[in-house]
Amino acid sequence: MKRLAFMTLVVGFVGTALVGGFAAAGDSAKCTIATSGDSETAKACAKGGRAEAKKAMKKMVADAKAKGQKFTCEGCHKDLDNYELTKNSKDDFKKLEALLKK
Ligand code: HEC
Repeated sequence: MKRLAFMTLVVGFVGTALVGGFAAAGDSAKCTIATSGDSETAKACAKGGRAEAKKAMKKMVADAKAKGQKFTCEGCHKDLDNYELTKNSKDDFKKLEALLKK
């Protein structure tokens, strides 16, 4: 009976690891917007998909804040699930890039 309990534990563990693995794969999904060009975001996408792009964008927003300008994810992305861009996002992105180059 002890052996069965151990097996249940092992199966449970492997199952969790598998589910965890799938969740991680979802997070590192490929980018669908920043698929070309040489913006920081596009470079991050090429390197590590959306998860990396998210990190890069967070850093850009934080760096802009350090320079006294406020940008928010929602200001450029209609939706933080598929990252659909707002109308102003391209222009704002240029402003953001220009600010960070200074
Ligand atoms: C100033 C506007 C702006 C802000 C602020 C901004 N983004 Fe973005 N984001 C963009 C643009 C424009 C792109 C597409 C870039 C490209 O095509 O090179 C993009 C791309 C992305 C992508 C890649 C999506 C894909 O599938 O290609 C992710 C992820 C992302 N942004 C997350 C965020 C997060 C998280 C924040 C907040 C921390 C944020 N963005 C803030 C403008 C912005």
